[in-house]
Amino acid sequence: MILSKFVDELPIPPILKPRWKDPFYTYYEVTMTEFRQSLHRQLNDSTVWGYEDGYPGPTIEVERGEKVLIKWMNNLPDKHLFPIDYTVHGAHQDVPDVRTVVHVHGACVEWESDGYPEAWFTKGFKHVGPYFRKQIYRYDNCNHACTLWYHDHTLGITRLNIYAGLAGFYLIRENRERSLNLPSGNYEIPLMIQDRTFNKDGSLYYPKQPEKPIPELETSITPEFIGDTILVNGKVWPYLKVEPRKYRFRLLNASNTRFYRIKLDSGQLMYQIATDGGLLDYPIGIKEIMLAPAERADVIIDFTNLEGKNIIMTNDAPAPFPGGDKPDPNTVGQVMQFRVTLPLSSVDTSTIPAHMIPVPKIKEQSVSRIRYLTLNDTMDQYGREWMLLDHKPWAAPISENPKLGATEIWYLINVTGNSHPIHLHLIDFQILDRRNFDVDTFNKEKVIDYTGPAMPPEPQERGWKDTVRANPKQVTRIIMQFGPFTGLYIWHCHILEHEDYEMMRPYRIIR
Ligand code: C2O
Ligand code: CU
Repeated sequence: MILSKFVDELPIPPILKPRWKDPFYTYYEVTMTEFRQSLHRQLNDSTVWGYEDGYPGPTIEVERGEKVLIKWMNNLPDKHLFPIDYTVHGAHQDVPDVRTVVHVHGACVEWESDGYPEAWFTKGFKHVGPYFRKQIYRYDNCNHACTLWYHDHTLGITRLNIYAGLAGFYLIRENRERSLNLPSGNYEIPLMIQDRTFNKDGSLYYPKQPEKPIPELETSITPEFIGDTILVNGKVWPYLKVEPRKYRFRLLNASNTRFYRIKLDSGQLMYQIATDGGLLDYPIGIKEIMLAPAERADVIIDFTNLEGKNIIMTNDAPAPFPGGDKPDPNTVGQVMQFRVTLPLSSVDTSTIPAHMIPVPKIKEQSVSRIRYLTLNDTMDQYGREWMLLDHKPWAAPISENPKLGATEIWYLINVTGNSHPIHLHLIDFQILDRRNFDVDTFNKEKVIDYTGPAMPPEPQERGWKDTVRANPKQVTRIIMQFGPFTGLYIWHCHILEHEDYEMMRPYRIIR
């Protein structure tokens, strides 16, 4: 089904109001519900799941260091919107179908409030997973100003829960950022980019079976989900009317599997100011931005002197990435449209600063431990493709036990044919480099035989990151310091179809 493009206006999620706020803490309540929402004017309203009756959920805005308590509540029906695969870890028939747990992606947070995949809960907290510890989560917000997002993280059904709509923005602000005079207020807009496929009746489609179905088993898990329609903030191919001035956009790829390579069809530069973990040293002017699932980029786009112009944000990343089909330029090759049709309401005094916030390099001399971790694929008992981290399934004993305060380098050795966006909870890391190596030699002899020089991260990645693209046949090296909390966290591939089917591992920070 091909829907008309740029006929609906971009929705901007509302800012969530706290139930209570005093100088010591702020308290929010957020309820997950099922409801119908118009995702495109030519479609019947679609049944979706959301937080506070919205898809995406409301934006949560906090100050760096603010103590925030959130009671996340599940008021969803008992029946799931999409086919559950009962052969997948954590989703066997012994647990209720509809389970939820909320993770604030990129948050500096105690482990009990991090949304551990087995800390799920059902409606009214009637049933809870084995790692459930508390109903009210506590966030210390020790991050610097940055764009985070919250989303579901339930073991074995994360891909289905997020696909149903369970995602929203979580922004951290601070004075250091305010003093930079970036575009703000009405000129600062979050953009959550996702792909979906619709049934004729307007309902969302998620496959029941993989490409090669297994007789007599309902097995919805597939190695990837690629939708044929692009949505931003829950609208199909929307447009946004803008003034001829500078805007700040917080780009987030919240898709299950799809990568995006974003460009403007006007050929103009975008000025990237922030990565996953906050502001860069200085803005970089770029023509294209690569975003794997869960990656963010804050950009300033300047519409000055473009009165009357329509500018389309395009995407030319193959799906799956790399090696998949090039997107059709008439459909998924487009994301949204900017219409420079609003009159300038006041002089644009915002700036693209020459310098922002220094990003001090983590020193390699401070490293106390190096870990070599393979990203590999194999076959499960039904002959389905199975992606793993270091050959281990989720349930294998914990093998990564960094010490509190320790600095480590992880070598992500990707022997598969896909790029995997690898995400670590709790900490931000820096990308050291990527380097090609010989996969056959590695598979046979377990030695890394480099076939090229180490390549530095792309300019757009030279800041704090929590998700990194580990490309096929490359070793990607990241460096990070573990803390400020101890406890049980996880690391995983952020392709939701991969993390749901074993490409996820617990890790523990110890004293
Ligand atoms: Cu965006 Cu483990 O999550
Ligand atoms: Cu993956």
